[in-house]
Amino acid sequence: MKAAIIGYGKMGREIERILTERGHEIALVIDQENAHDLDAEHLKGIDVAIEFTTPETAYDNIRTCLECGAAVVSGTTGWTDRLAELQELCRRRGGALFYASNYCLGVNLLFRLNRQLAALVSRVGGGYDVRIEEVHHTQKKDAPSGTAITLAEGIIENLPAKTGWVNFAPGIEHAANRVERSGDTPADRIEIRSVREGMVPGIHTVTYESEDDILELRHTIKNRRTLAQGAVVAAEFLCGKKGVYGMEDLLK
Ligand SMILES: NC(=O)c1ccc[n+]([C@@H]2O[C@H](COP(=O)([O-])OP(=O)(O)OC[C@H]3O[C@@H](n4cnc5c(N)ncnc54)[C@H](O)[C@@H]3O)[C@@H](O)[C@H]2O)c1
Repeated sequence: MKAAIIGYGKMGREIERILTERGHEIALVIDQENAHDLDAEHLKGIDVAIEFTTPETAYDNIRTCLECGAAVVSGTTGWTDRLAELQELCRRRGGALFYASNYCLGVNLLFRLNRQLAALVSRVGGGYDVRIEEVHHTQKKDAPSGTAITLAEGIIENLPAKTGWVNFAPGIEHAANRVERSGDTPADRIEIRSVREGMVPGIHTVTYESEDDILELRHTIKNRRTLAQGAVVAAEFLCGKKGVYGMEDLLK
């Protein structure tokens, strides 16, 4: 596979290592300084571009790739209110786009368990309220994490008592749907608490609490390797295909 890396930060570098290990060619690396090189001429002959950049630049990067006819795997979070637009563009142009808020296999198993647990709680009642906590390193730019949003969406789809989410993100700028105090969360919303500390690659906890007990689903990422490997496997899967895909397609 002839790959392009868009975004040569923590993820881009890890992806470079995995691509090399798996015998792929890295024909183009784009970061902030040479962002103007992301064009049809440089993307010519690229099988898949793997995009991990910033919430501010992901939309334009992916759009450019699709307009130039390059298949794209993206994992950038914090911009996905516009993802549907690009999925539509991809379908219209007969391109290929793979997006996942988290490329770790274990997190995608957590997504499934989370949906099943929400459906079970909806059936049995039990007086449970649900909340989510995500912990990440201090350099993370968006809050809540894309993974926490996917978890919240999985609960909302399966637990009618919850219709949306809010973010309690003490000390974090640019938090979406923010509430200033934990107690401010309306009963029909899921509170996502965001914590930024140290070098943590990612911990997600879904907690159901009743008057009598606490039930938790938790996933802890030990290193970025699992995320980069998932993105490269997604690129191998996308190579030569047309259409819009996500982790559910890969796990099938
Ligand atoms: N989906 C997942 O599994 C997953 C996993 C880890 C991180 N992420 C997300 O991926 C993104 C990147 O994470 P990271 O830890 O590598 O961040 P990072 O800050 O280490 O790297 C981002 C890189 O993008 C570069 N960049 C900025 N503007 C650019 C542009 N216009 N063109 C090309 N490159 C540009 C920056 O210079 C930087 O090197 C974040 O949104 C993060 O939340 C997703």
